[in-house]
Amino acid sequence: MQKEIRIGMIGFGQMGRIHSYAYRSIPLYYDGNPCKVTLKCVCDSNEALAKKGVDQAGFESFTRDYRELVERKDIDVVNICTPNKMHKEAVLAALASGKHVYCEKPLAFNEAEAKEIVAAADKSGLKHQITAEYRFIPAVMKAKELIDADFVGRVFHFRGLYLHSGYIDPKRPREWRLLKEVIGGGVLVDLGPHILDLMHYLVGDVDEVSASMETFFRERPLPEDPKKMGKVDVEDAISAILRLKNGALGFAEMSRVATGAEDELRFEIHGQNGALAFNLMQPNELLAYNAKDPKGMQGFRKISTVQKYPAPAMMPAAKFTMGWVRSHVAALYSFLDCIVNDRKPSPNFHDALKMHHLMESMYRAAETKSWVKV
Ligand SMILES: NC(=O)c1ccc[n+]([C@@H]2O[C@H](COP(=O)([O-])OP(=O)(O)OC[C@H]3O[C@@H](n4cnc5c(N)ncnc54)[C@H](O)[C@@H]3O)[C@@H](O)[C@H]2O)c1
Repeated sequence: MQKEIRIGMIGFGQMGRIHSYAYRSIPLYYDGNPCKVTLKCVCDSNEALAKKGVDQAGFESFTRDYRELVERKDIDVVNICTPNKMHKEAVLAALASGKHVYCEKPLAFNEAEAKEIVAAADKSGLKHQITAEYRFIPAVMKAKELIDADFVGRVFHFRGLYLHSGYIDPKRPREWRLLKEVIGGGVLVDLGPHILDLMHYLVGDVDEVSASMETFFRERPLPEDPKKMGKVDVEDAISAILRLKNGALGFAEMSRVATGAEDELRFEIHGQNGALAFNLMQPNELLAYNAKDPKGMQGFRKISTVQKYPAPAMMPAAKFTMGWVRSHVAALYSFLDCIVNDRKPSPNFHDALKMHHLMESMYRAAETKSWVKV
């Protein structure tokens, strides 16, 4: 008989909706899904949103108190989609109650909290996964496959960018993503976990880093009274030069004031045998250059990756175009599959801790204007 996995969702804002959609639709995307998914309970401190979780996403019940949710005996997985500062208490409470945990990035408010979470997760023996959905885009999966098959060879460069433009408006109020005491940092902790995770996943660990950051708008309106201005204490943009342990050079840039950008995550990898390039705004393809191609025939080729997910993925057909939400569906499918088949989820909280350590090293490098050993 098919196993049932019962979900408790904490936080029903933007990402709570996306994850709920993913859980609901997994049985349609995958013919031969690993389990029956039941949306048991949704929690949001804002009662109107919690109720929407019932009315719109189909959760059986709602609460405003996450402790009530994690203690329930009829929940197997706790899924955390609250702002960063609230992650730790919810993750620790869920693990202490014997629940598997899927947590949005970044895992915690800072590295010290992430270490505490990893220690608790290891002790619990429960399954844990961090949201790093870009690993689950077929073009990125293809990049990983090619790198593992030595298509790129010895890597010289990793160049990664994650660019947004949503903070260009100086009148944008200081909501939680602009408050250090809730988010833990600026664009680095917001967009960094994605592009830095891909660097770590595709090319390797970092040895040393130097960085420079800037807050272009030092005052913004207060949410409670938009006529009053408040000091901004998080960076809008950060650029870093990195030396990787395998000898490659890295460059990473993250910005929330990149005029013209929508959701532009890009990477380019250059190696002795070949090169790869990806842009999230063209998610259907991976660019690949093979240095062994005959002279006169050299150039980047466009590998069509569209929605080429392995079976039992069956909807939509592989030829149809790829979208951002689909990568969340694939990430959550992988997590459920790991629970049912007792495999180790990836990326997990250990990967997330590595990101926290790197991000804190980058902040230290920027603040001290020096190279920092990671
Ligand atoms: N993986 C991605 O691509 C991606 C994209 C955006 C955001 N995120 C991450 O997802 C998380 C949530 O971001 P979001 O954009 O959904 O934010 P959001 O503000 O849209 O939603 C957060 C929700 O959490 C609720 N909340 C706050 N404190 C709570 C508490 N103590 N108990 C219960 N509910 C509480 C809020 O009322 C809100 O509805 C963040 O960690 C963020 O970094 C990830």
